[in-house]
Order: sequence, then C-alpha cells, then structure tokens
Amino acid sequence: MRIHYTILTITILLFTSCNQSSNTQGGVSSTSSLASQIGIDILKQGGNAFDAIVATGFTLAVTSPSNGNLGGGGFLVAYTEDGEAISLDFREKAPALSYETMFLDENQEYSRDLALNSHKSSGVPGTVNGLLKIFNDYGSGNFTLKEIMAPAIHYAENGHYINATDAKGFDSYKALFLTDAGSTKIFVKDINDAIINIQKAFKNGDLSEEDYAKELASIDEWKPGDLLVQKDLADTLKRIAQYGKAGFYEGETAELIIEEMNANDGFITKEDLFNYDSVYRNPVVGTYRGNKVISMGPPSSGGALLIQMLNMIENFEIKSMERNSTEFVHLLTEVQRLAYADRAIHLGDPDFWPNPIPMLTSKEYAKERLALISMNSATRSTKIAAGKTLSKESIETTHYSVIDNQGNVAGITTTLNLSYGSKKIVDGAGFLLNNEMDDFSSKPGTANAFGLIGYEANAIQPFKRPLSSMSPTVIIDNEGNPIVTIGAAGGSRIITGVLQTIISIVDHGLNIQEAINVPRTHSQWLPDNVRYEKDALTQQTISELEALNHIFEHNGTAENGTYTLAQIHGVHLKNNKFITGFDKRGTYDENEGITY
Ligand code: DON
Repeated sequence: MRIHYTILTITILLFTSCNQSSNTQGGVSSTSSLASQIGIDILKQGGNAFDAIVATGFTLAVTSPSNGNLGGGGFLVAYTEDGEAISLDFREKAPALSYETMFLDENQEYSRDLALNSHKSSGVPGTVNGLLKIFNDYGSGNFTLKEIMAPAIHYAENGHYINATDAKGFDSYKALFLTDAGSTKIFVKDINDAIINIQKAFKNGDLSEEDYAKELASIDEWKPGDLLVQKDLADTLKRIAQYGKAGFYEGETAELIIEEMNANDGFITKEDLFNYDSVYRNPVVGTYRGNKVISMGPPSSGGALLIQMLNMIENFEIKSMERNSTEFVHLLTEVQRLAYADRAIHLGDPDFWPNPIPMLTSKEYAKERLALISMNSATRSTKIAAGKTLSKESIETTHYSVIDNQGNVAGITTTLNLSYGSKKIVDGAGFLLNNEMDDFSSKPGTANAFGLIGYEANAIQPFKRPLSSMSPTVIIDNEGNPIVTIGAAGGSRIITGVLQTIISIVDHGLNIQEAINVPRTHSQWLPDNVRYEKDALTQQTISELEALNHIFEHNGTAENGTYTLAQIHGVHLKNNKFITGFDKRGTYDENEGITY
C-alpha cells in the first residue's frame, strides 16, 4: 500500500536555512537555494512535485548559470502518486547539417576545440520543450505557466545576488567568455575600454599568453553578493511564458538563435528548432535488495549501467564490507570496469541503435560478467585505445529533485555539458548554448572530454541524441512507497557516484546527506585507473590495491582542496520525513546548499 501524507503542517524546518533539513511536507533539492525555495513555495501553494520541479528548473536557468539552462537538455525520471514510472528524454539532438566526422581536423584527428568551444558544438536544445511537457502533462492544473515562470522572470529581470561559486566560475572562465560578445556582456565584470584594449593587444600579438592571463586576472573580479541582472534572458523567459514552446522554438527567440548560428558557422537551423520534440521513453527498471530502481534509459547510459552494477554488487555481502576498504574498492572497480566496457560498445540513441537493455540489466548477465573478474587481482582493461585523462573542470551539470506529500517523486538532471556549455550566449536572448555534441564519439576509440570512448553506437548522425551518463533515479520500496530521488553532475563520474550513494542508503542505512558525504572512488574501464577523493582511501589501502594490480590516478584536486568526482543531489523519504541532500563538492560558499 502506498502512503499518502496528509500532514500539511508547515514546520519551522521548512523555513530554516540549513544544509540538510527534514520535514513532513515535501522536499526540494537543487544546486541553488533560490531555486529550491521557489519549488517549496509552489508546493506550499498547492502545487505538486511536477509544478515544483518545473518552477525550480526555470529558476535554475537564471540563478545557476553554469548548468541550469534554457539552451541545454536533460532527463526527467519520476514516479507518480498513481504508481506510474515515467521518463522524459529532452536531450539535445544533432542538427540536420551535422555529420560523423564534423569534429575531425585536416589530419583526421579529433579537435577538442571544435567539439567544445565552437557553435557547432551545440545540439538543438531540449530543456524548454521538456519542462513545458512535464508541466502540461503532469502538473496539478492549479497554476498557469506564467505563475510557474514568474519567479525565474523576476530574478532575471531584477537580478539575483551571486554566490561564491558563481563568482569563482565567472572569473575563471573569463578568457573564454571574452571570445563571445554575448557572454562578455553578461559574465565579465564591468566590461570597459581597458578590457577591450587588452583583448585587442592579445589578438594583435602584442601580448604574450602569459601577460594576457595576468592582465585578465587584474580585471575587476566578481564577489559573492554582487547582483547579476539578465534582461535579455528575462525577455526570452517572458516569450516562453506567453507563447509556450513557440516562444522559444519559433518567433523572436528562434530568430536570435539562427542569427547567432549564421554569424558563427553554427549548424542549428529554423527547421531543427521547429521540429525538436522531447520523448517519453520506457525507464530502465531493476531491483536492488528488494527495492525497485527506476532510472534513465538510452540515450543515457546511466540507468542501464547503474542497474547492471547494482545487479553485480547484489551478489556480495556489502553490508559487512568496510566502506572504502581494499575489498570494497577492488569489487567496485572491477564492476565499474565491466559496465563501462559495455557502455562503449552497446549504447547509443535508441532511435538509431538497438540497445540491448534487457540483457544489460538482467541478473543472469550480471552473474556471467562477474565470472570474468577475480577478487584477488585487478583485470586489465582491454586496450582498444588509450583513454585520456578526465577533464578536471568542476561541476557543469545539475540535478534537482522534488518529493511532494502526495507520493509524487520527480528528479531532473540537466546540462549544458561543460561549465557554461560552449561559453557562447545567444546574443540578445541571454542564454548559453550547450556543447553537448562532444558527448558523441567523434572518432572511434578516441576519448571525449570525460575520457569516454565510443564507437558506431554513438557516432554522430543528423537528428541523433548523444549518449549521456546522466542518471536521474528513483527508488521505490517493495510496497510501492518512494524512498529516494537522486542524481548527479560529473560526466562519466555520475553513474559511479549515484551507485555508491545508493549503496550507502540501502546497504549501510545512511540518510541521503550522510550518504552523499561519504568519500568516493571512480573508474570507467578506460583509462585503466582508479580515481579517488581526498579522504576516500588510506595509504595502506592504496598500497594493498596496488598490490592487486590497480593503477591510481592521484590527481583531480579542486582548488578548495576537495575532489569533485560527482556532485549529487536528492531527496530521501525516511521514517515519514523528507530529508534533502546537498553535495558540497565543487562549491565555494559555506552557506550554499540550502535545500528544503
Ligand atoms: O550527458 C552527459 O553525460 C554529460 N554531458 C554530462 C556533463 C556533466 O555532468 C558535466 N559535469 N561535470
């Protein structure tokens, strides 16, 4: 029997700023406390989890510019009070003009610059279509779209006070923002003649790269508490609020996108925008120790890999293994190796590629694969191509979640791909373009920004969606009661982060915040090594794992001294309380992470 929570008491906790809170009314977790607050306001005004997540999503596009977005895409995984499991794919699509070798240079080598920093790096954005579909199909009907979008419009029009992470982000990408007129206007503090002269000098070759960097560093820096006003973005949001998806995919916004593309050799056309549609897909569903795990299927690899790894791990007495012990990390690494090898070969956009999901997620297959590994020694990853080191950029994707008191659970992971996407603003429309096209396999066996390799299944084709690692996941107990909604940012590290957090919740009985705090490790078949967070492993454990033939990558430290394998957010319903979880990884401000 499913539980219906009728206790509508608004507890003090609901209004308390803290990094972890629990209450009996509902929970919202996101990377921006302003956006989480908007979600909770909607719940308080009689909205359901779907109203709340859409309001939070539009607000994130304003208050969390590095990853919240209108110009990107994402996935929703949800479970309704009627027991329906849903997944919506609003991933970006390759424009009609794209082709398999579009990111290869004249030597037929993968050009990272083209794949990440050009206008060609953008897929056709899906976020607006997706959020509107969720609102129309699953919203409570108690709100108009204008009401849902009003807070986002307010923050864009009147500004919001930025936090330390934003200040740091805007300044650290300054050089790239300065290559784009729209981004310069919004993200470079106090753009003035002095800056323009520095840029000119650099372009003319009068400044060395080193001196250019020094000059840039001397430009006025952003500070937490500075006001960020985004008038063009407010106008775009208003057009969406008024005309729905036509406010983005047609009319003035579409024209601004096309102008931006035409002026910069981009591929997205009017038809690409007009034809974009998000798609409901069957979520991938598995079980883990009697709980139902509902996650995102292709074009994400997240759900299939997560369930495959859980199926393998279920064969072991994890509870009795010490967390991050030699035995635990060895098992985890071997399981990750097996799953990521499958990812490279088997998974791609289901509209183009037959994904063997039943096989990958079956308990029998997990057992077969386990037969390939030993508990006594690391298996070397098959050497098809040397994987490149993972990008050390921090958090560029974002997950947000809502559980309401009627039993609706909704989680969205959304991204521009890297931080601030391609760093290109659609001039006049105020939003950043994604660089999601790099998630395709641009050249068979060559690593993308996340060190991931792929082959035909994930080759570029017009209208195809690039393979993702985003893993919005909902767990339901064996009576159909929601337990947790969870997801992460962190590219290829998302799936292993979600996996380890689920193990902490299910096997080790931790609440979501405690589970998020547990230091993690990551491996992904290729490159054949193990990455670990500060405090995850003792020197002795590392030596023991090395004795088992594991190879370590001892880097990845972010400037604030913590490692950022994946940033996880979620809501946990435990003992009839909604507990929100926020990940401090990659943040710079003690007061961030207010979730409700
Ligand atoms: O869809 C994906 O898997 C990637 N584009 C996600 C990027 C991401 O998480 C960036 N954060 N580090």
